[in-house]
This record gives sequence, C-alpha cells and structure tokens, in this order.
Amino acid sequence: MSTDLEKLSEFVVVANRLPVDLETDEDGGKNWKRSPGGLVTALEPILRQRDGAWVGWPGVADEKVDPIVVDGLRLFPVELTSQDLAEYYEGFSNDTLWPLYHDVLVAPTFERSWWHTYVAVNQRFAEETARCAADGATVWVQDYQLQLVPAMLRELRPDLTIGFFLHIPFPPVELFMQLPWRKEIVKGMLGADLIGFHLPGGANNFLFLARKLLGLKTTTAGVGVRSALGHVDFDSRVVKVGAFPISVDSAELERQSKSESVLRRARELKEELGNPEKILLGVDRLDYTKGIDLRLQALKELLDEGRLDPEKYTMVQLATPSRERVQHYIDLRSVIEEQVGRINGDHSQIGRPVVHYLYQPVDREELIALFVAADVMLVTPMRDGMNLVAKEYVACRSDLGGALVLSEFTGAAMELRQSYLVNPHDLDGVKNTILTAVHQDPKEGRRRMAALHRQVMTHDVHQWAESFLTALAPPGPLPDDQFVTERESDFARNN
Ligand code: ADP
Ligand code: F6P
Repeated sequence: MSTDLEKLSEFVVVANRLPVDLETDEDGGKNWKRSPGGLVTALEPILRQRDGAWVGWPGVADEKVDPIVVDGLRLFPVELTSQDLAEYYEGFSNDTLWPLYHDVLVAPTFERSWWHTYVAVNQRFAEETARCAADGATVWVQDYQLQLVPAMLRELRPDLTIGFFLHIPFPPVELFMQLPWRKEIVKGMLGADLIGFHLPGGANNFLFLARKLLGLKTTTAGVGVRSALGHVDFDSRVVKVGAFPISVDSAELERQSKSESVLRRARELKEELGNPEKILLGVDRLDYTKGIDLRLQALKELLDEGRLDPEKYTMVQLATPSRERVQHYIDLRSVIEEQVGRINGDHSQIGRPVVHYLYQPVDREELIALFVAADVMLVTPMRDGMNLVAKEYVACRSDLGGALVLSEFTGAAMELRQSYLVNPHDLDGVKNTILTAVHQDPKEGRRRMAALHRQVMTHDVHQWAESFLTALAPPGPLPDDQFVTERESDFARNN
C-alpha cells in the first residue's frame, strides 16, 4: 500500500459502487472505467475538491482489489462474491428496494435470504469504512444499497460524524410498510447524524415513519410549503432530517458545452444524422423507471398518425446497460428494441433511420455534444428521485436553444418549472406536449430556457454538498430551504 493510502481520511464517501469499474480487456489487462449513474456524476467532483477517500465495490464479482489511487482519487474497494451480487445487489437492492421505492412500478420480491446477505454486505462496508476513516472524520454514506451502514458504523466508530443521503425517492408510508424489515431499515438510517432526501416529501415520509413505526419523538421544525426539516430523538441523540435536492457540476458542463471541440462535434452529429430539422434526444440507464418505452410509444403514434414527419425529425435514444441479469431489465430491453425496430421498419428510409438507438454508454464529450445538438430533450420517467440528465441538458444550453420535456414525477420537476411538464401516465398529453416542444416559438423557447438555465447555474452540486455538509457539521443548525426557488405545486409537495 502506498503511503498516501495508509494515511487515514478525514472525509470518506461510502457508496455501493466506486466511481470507476474494473474491467478486463480481451488480453486479460485490467482497466478502470467510469461507472454508471447519477450518484457518481454528482459525487466525483465533490470528492476531488475535498481530497477524501471513496469506499465502494469495484463493479466485478469475486475480485479482491487492494486500495488504489485512480486518476487522483483514493479508492478503498469492498469485495462482493457472486452470491453477494445476486442477493445483495441484484436481489435485495434492485429487486426489493428499487421497485418498492419507485411506486411499485413492478412488484417487489421479498426474499429472506436476500435480506440476510444485505445485512452481511452492509456490515462489510461499515468495517472497511471504519478502517480507513481518521479519528473524528466525516463519513458520508450514500443510497438505498447501504441503509444499515450508518448504525453499524456508529457501533464500530462512535467518534465519527455520519451523514446519509438517499438518491432515490423515499416512498409513501403505505408502500414502505410492506417491507418485512421496515424497522431495521429505519433504525439503520437513524445511525446517522443527518439524513438527507432530495425532496421535502421524502423527509416528511421518514419523519412520519419514525413516529408511527418506532414511536419516536420527532420535531418538524420548518416543515412548510417549501421544505421539510426536522429532528428525531433516538438513542439519546438528535438526528437531523432534511431535503437537499442534488444537482450537477453546472459551471463545468457549461464550460465544456462552449468549447470549440464540442461545438464542432455537435455540428458533425447533426450532419451525420442527415441534417434533420429537429433532433429529439433521450439519455438514460435502461431502467423501467425512466419511461423510455413510453416516449417511444408516443413517437410511434405521432408518426403513425402523420403528426410528425419522419423526413424532418430524428430521435436519438442512448440507453446505458444496467442490472442486466435482473429479469425486469431483460424484459424491458426486449420491449424497447422491438419498439425501435418497429418504428424504423415502418417509417425510415435507407440510410435514414428515424430512431438512432445505442445500447452503450458514450463518453462525456460526445454526450455534451449531443445535448448541444438536441432541439428537444425527452425526460419522461414514471418516477425518478431527481434525474440529473434534465439538469445536465439545461446546464449545456447557455445558448438558450432547445426545449426540455420533463415528467412531473421526477425530483427535477420541482425546480425546473419552466420546462414542458408532462404526466407520464397520460400518453395523449405526452404526445401533445412533445409536439408543442417541437414547434415552440423560438422566443418563447429562449424565455423558458433562460429561466431553467439560471436555476441550474445557481443551484449546482457544490452548493448541494456544501449545504448538506454544513448541516451535518456538529453542532450546525439545519440550513434554510434555499434550494427550492420555484413555487411548489401541491403535487410536488407530496412527492
Ligand atoms: P440514474 O442515477 O438513475 O442513472 P440520473 O439521470 O440522475 O439517473 O443520472 C444518470 C447519469 O448517467 C447522468 O450523469 C447521465 O449523463 C449519465 N448517462 C446516462 N446514460 C448515459 C449514456 N448512455 N452514456 C453516458 N452517460 C450516460
Ligand atoms: O441513483 C440510483 C442509483 O442506483 C445509484 O445508486 C447508482 O449510482 C445508479 O443508480 C446506477 O445504478 P447501478 O449502480 O445499479 O448500476
């Protein structure tokens, strides 16, 4: 171990995945590659800024990897066996908690053996973290895969200041109560000094549960129209609970979007797509929460009905492979690829597909060029904790071009009120709104984008982290609700 890695860390991020995945190439060589998802996008710049350590899984099973510095980041890998992968990651995290926390879009599976593995793996993460954290360090535990870590870590290292942030929605009490291990999960989270959610609704749901399920005393200081901030008295401690909407590295995205190479690539992309009048874009992990099938259905119907001209409009859909051994994801991939095949079969010409579909991640610069080239960005999840893609698109549009179609069921919808908001359960509404965005008056488009861009530029990921970590720092007061600047609808307040 190098000296740098022997040094204990004052600031530690703990997440299921490291920010990079270990990959083996055809010659057996090992490479580190950026890992998927919004959590990594958000936290990587924060860790860099604070010179901390990151504890997480290196993305492959049965691989013991020593602590390592990759691209300037100090990484502490946690090993997962194939059984852990099947039961803790694919099973309990992504076939129990993920659907339960996302409105039960598919039925969650409650499997006792998965729960036992989830407990054991959370314990392993807590032990690895306890080993690399300095005396009195700040540890920031991330997301639904590690909800037991705060309590386990406190048991091992009471000297630490522990924060926990949930990157996905925290469900309404009626749904959460289905979970056979509901008390254990809530107690696990209460091991933290501060528990953060994207939206006030999640914080409220948690406070309600702490009262109803565990009979704890809660104080809901500051619960109002715009924010939910409160306390739970637990185990002779006061646990703070609050809403902290996550964001992106806005200035960096804006800078890159204006670079000569990105602008050139954006022009090339338009040419490669056959210079369509307008480009529609979707960028997601391939996940049933994202509404990719819904937007393809909307596009198909608009083309079938002759309301969109396939010679003038092209859609690009990027789908990052995700959780490829979980059955719902396997099924969804088939559905989406059949939809793309059918649309192209019915409406394309030789060399001019209507839908360009890539089942692969693309590099950052290419993605930013696509954001710059896209006239209409389609973000249509059935449910999403935040959705960083929407904010990335807006950050890249300092030219005030483009239009954002955004599902009301994303966390981002609470802030991005000037987008074209849609209810993803209303297919006709989605179709009409896509047409409105495609045909928007340029002046109206610039007005909307100016408001969106301002919001994302003034509420970036650094501010998010700063506000969470300030609230975490003992004996810091909870911050004001400075993040939510737009008027909240009743809908948003409840989500
Ligand atoms: P989630 O965390 O559920 O995946 P988010 O929208 O919050 O959803 O974050 C997704 C992140 O992954 C964003 O930073 C986005 O740019 C990135 N991303 C998604 N799809 C791709 C892709 N095909 N290629 C490269 N990056 C992608
Ligand atoms: O945002 C939710 C989340 O599960 C993150 O924890 C993760 O970074 C991302 O989605 C990608 O998921 P996975 O790590 O399962 O590929």
